[in-house]
Amino acid sequence: MKAAVVTAFDTPPRYEDIDAPTPAGPADFVIDIVAAGLHPRVRSQADGSRYTSTDELPLIPGIDGVGRGPDRRLRYFVLPDTTRGSMAEQTVVDERRSILLPEEADVIALAAAMNPAMSSWVALRRRIDFRAGQRVLVLGATGNAGRLAIQVARHLGASAVVAAGRDRRRLATLGAVGATATVALDADPDTVAEQLAEGARDVDVVLDYLWGEPAVRAMVALTAPEPRQKPLTWVQIGSVAGRSAAIPSAALRAARLEIVGSGQGSVSTAEILAELPTLAHEISAGRFTVDAKPVRLADVEQAWRTDAYPNQRVVLLP
Ligand SMILES: NC(=O)c1ccc[n+]([C@@H]2O[C@H](COP(=O)([O-])OP(=O)(O)OC[C@H]3O[C@@H](n4cnc5c(N)ncnc54)[C@H](OP(=O)(O)O)[C@@H]3O)[C@@H](O)[C@H]2O)c1
Repeated sequence: MKAAVVTAFDTPPRYEDIDAPTPAGPADFVIDIVAAGLHPRVRSQADGSRYTSTDELPLIPGIDGVGRGPDRRLRYFVLPDTTRGSMAEQTVVDERRSILLPEEADVIALAAAMNPAMSSWVALRRRIDFRAGQRVLVLGATGNAGRLAIQVARHLGASAVVAAGRDRRRLATLGAVGATATVALDADPDTVAEQLAEGARDVDVVLDYLWGEPAVRAMVALTAPEPRQKPLTWVQIGSVAGRSAAIPSAALRAARLEIVGSGQGSVSTAEILAELPTLAHEISAGRFTVDAKPVRLADVEQAWRTDAYPNQRVVLLP
């Protein structure tokens, strides 16, 4: 069968022939893949930088997708850490990690949006005690997951969502998906701090896709200079601006600040799987939108370039 195959961590996958997969466990079956999303996590899996990477090569990247099992019914599936990912004509799926989809489901939208939407959906529904009426700051709102986080937070009842990001052109489009205010992070640090202190100081929850220096600055802006009594829950979800962050001790003393992470590990696989049907339903119904770019799997090498389709979520079609 054809697949995107990684043979070295410093080169993109190539469209090549590879042996067809065979089921191993009792709940396993071979699925014919219809669509698979090229998410940041797929890139980090393919370049060996993912924290769960085993350095095993060759590998087929891909962590989720839509396909048809032996019963020919449409399914969305998530894979465990594996070298036989979803960027192929076929892969092996554990039935318990898949859900049935209606025949009319929008397969491109699902392959594009399930992973980025899950980041905020699971955080708000499973990781913290989020309540309707609370106010949210999305830090790093211009990416696919951040843009979806605005929509998800509003859908789950957030009374206000402040969207912060550095790409002003993208920031200007976020009102249309539910942002009630925006903060441009590319301004000078004092202006950013001022705008965050003014526009986001009363938020209850931060969904943080950035981490690193911008997260530290935002944390200080929201907790200083006056002590903050209102609880603030900071959910660490992505780290596009830095893998670590030097959090000043004062931020934790001067505010009722709680920092938690949300992702694979801090939320159990069972909890994540339990959220799939409702989220798939909402995406298929067009409730949450992502800018998807369908590309033939044969063109994977070209699609892998980060500048090929900026801001769009590539969906590979075998
Ligand atoms: N924990 C989870 O459950 C989970 C699930 C899904 C995704 N994630 C993580 O969430 C993060 C975002 O994912 P995604 O799907 O949204 O990726 P994406 O679509 O590639 O978006 C990333 C965005 O980050 C922006 N960015 C990069 N560096 C920045 C900086 N220093 N300051 C401000 N913005 C910056 C980029 O915008 P510009 O470069 O155009 O400014 C881009 O819009 C990734 O780290 C991903 O691994 C976590």
